[in-house]
Amino acid sequence: MNEKAYLDFYEKHQIIPVRQDKSDMVKHFNRRGNLYKQIGIPPALLKDKSVIEFGPGSGDNAIFTASLKPGRYVLVDGNSTSIRELHKKLNEGAFGEVTPEICNSNILGYQDDRQFEIVLCEGVVPNQENSSAFLKEITTFAAPGGIVCITTMSPFSCLAEVCRRVMRPFFSQEIDCAVEEGVKFFREDLLSLTGMSRLHDDWVLDNILHPWGKNLFFSIPAAIEAISDDFDFYGSSPTFLTDWRWYKSVNGLEFGTNDMAKKAYACSSLFLIDYRIDPAEMTLPVHSNWSSLEKDCNEAYEIHMGIWLNGDIDAIYTQFLPLMAVISKKLGDLLPITARSLQDFISGMHEMKIKGLQADFKSFRTWFGRGQQYVSFIRRAN
Ligand SMILES: C[S@@+](CC[C@H](N)C(=O)[O-])C[C@H]1O[C@@H](n2cnc3c(N)ncnc32)[C@H](O)[C@@H]1O
Repeated sequence: MNEKAYLDFYEKHQIIPVRQDKSDMVKHFNRRGNLYKQIGIPPALLKDKSVIEFGPGSGDNAIFTASLKPGRYVLVDGNSTSIRELHKKLNEGAFGEVTPEICNSNILGYQDDRQFEIVLCEGVVPNQENSSAFLKEITTFAAPGGIVCITTMSPFSCLAEVCRRVMRPFFSQEIDCAVEEGVKFFREDLLSLTGMSRLHDDWVLDNILHPWGKNLFFSIPAAIEAISDDFDFYGSSPTFLTDWRWYKSVNGLEFGTNDMAKKAYACSSLFLIDYRIDPAEMTLPVHSNWSSLEKDCNEAYEIHMGIWLNGDIDAIYTQFLPLMAVISKKLGDLLPITARSLQDFISGMHEMKIKGLQADFKSFRTWFGRGQQYVSFIRRAN
């Protein structure tokens, strides 16, 4: 089922469920601009540069990228609804002075002799059959000294979403009804997210009703591992690497940030579990090892697959909730807010068995992980 990640589901329903709220374009541009700054791309950097974007989806984000006036802008997507939407935007003048080349193609196997100064690929690499190989393939389009930006997802960052997905059997099987029910049911959750910009029906489609594959997770260390022969870790959102080296001591061809980022990530990866927590205000034990908790979250994802695919409600109560109780206990002293929300999830799910979509989920409603992380790399110049 993971053979054509994203594409099969989107094509089947003729959708591109990643539309952004553009009712306030200043806000939309500020969001995108600040993301780019966080990952090391100040707006002026894109002017006249060559940019290729893999998987632009609705093109809502491409509008911003185009506004920075790249000299060449290529958009590659394999979903016919995306391609139609991109052409529509182009015809309506949404890309301003820039005329992007729009290519209807699978990213895997995409042929282009050119190399680009910036390669963008957002919301695409995790969930592929082989994310490492996928990433390696798109990086071949980066010129020496060029930047590659991708997104990653971890077992911690997705746990809150996985909890929401195990509710799938309680929604209609028919997709339009399920979207309607989901929008109503998750409204409170989504409104609690102050920065939420995706349209709610698209969020329900992509996060609750989209059949995620067995290889959902692709973490920052996995991405580093995949391309460290040619690339150096550059920036990320959230930012977790501080580099205290005296620049004169950094004099080799390798920048040295790959190992530093892996170490820094290992210390702080648990914070991806709950966006409400500000690590700057926390005193987690330094050099902690979160591998046992990460293993639990991986197992939760596997159990969720059976529940989601087979509508196996029994497994929610006999397997998933007992594991959530274990995770909540382990988190208890470290992240009490998250532990509390997990307890509220457990009691909410018990209520759901009786009251259906009327169940009360208390503080669980406001718990979201740090979903996808953004990470940029620089191709080493020979
Ligand atoms: C989750 S959406 C992300 C869209 C957009 N980048 C964003 O962040 O809003 C994934 C996009 O990548 C495209 N995509 C995923 N895998 C692909 C593949 N193997 N070949 C071509 N397009 C692909 C999908 O069609 C979709 O437009």
